[in-house]
Amino acid sequence: MKKASSDHEPTGQLTIRTLAMPADTNPAGDIFGGWVMSQLDIAGAIAASERVRGRTATVAVEAMTFIAPVKVGDVLCVYCEIKSIGTTSIAIGVEAWARRHRYKDRVKVTKGTFIYVALDDKGNKHVIAK
Ligand SMILES: CC(C)(COP(=O)(O)OP(=O)(O)OC[C@H]1O[C@@H](n2cnc3c(N)ncnc32)[C@H](O)[C@@H]1OP(=O)(O)O)[C@@H](O)C(=O)NCCC(=O)NCCS
Repeated sequence: MKKASSDHEPTGQLTIRTLAMPADTNPAGDIFGGWVMSQLDIAGAIAASERVRGRTATVAVEAMTFIAPVKVGDVLCVYCEIKSIGTTSIAIGVEAWARRHRYKDRVKVTKGTFIYVALDDKGNKHVIAK
């Protein structure tokens, strides 16, 4: 049975962990949202490509929410779960959690649903094996 999304525990499988660096800040000193979004896209692509056993392309991003800022020095942990599989597309639920303050706290900072299309070697979409 699928677990409900929680603010206490991450949903899905830990797919990437990375350190938020000063080079990725916005003018206010927090981490730039585009950097966070790219980490979610990278993690979702890993999860999608593992499931379809091949290349994928991001075709859409749905319901992206920035819940809390990411700070320099946070460890961003991105969790993924397969939400649905269509004919050529796969929807991945992605959550990012930040470990802050010398890694004592864990805060959900961003969530979204990323849609990927399975591609063959020539870049044409193809049917995902069930
Ligand atoms: C991915 C791509 C090959 C799909 O080709 P297409 O002919 O547009 O494909 P379709 O319209 O038939 O859609 C393919 C699948 O994606 C789904 N899809 C397309 N647009 C979508 C959207 N906005 N939201 C949700 N799903 C979408 C379709 O429902 C379909 O799913 P299904 O086969 O499981 O039913 C093409 O759109 C493309 O090359 N896009 C650019 C990808 C890219 O550069 N991404 C960024 C870098 S990775």
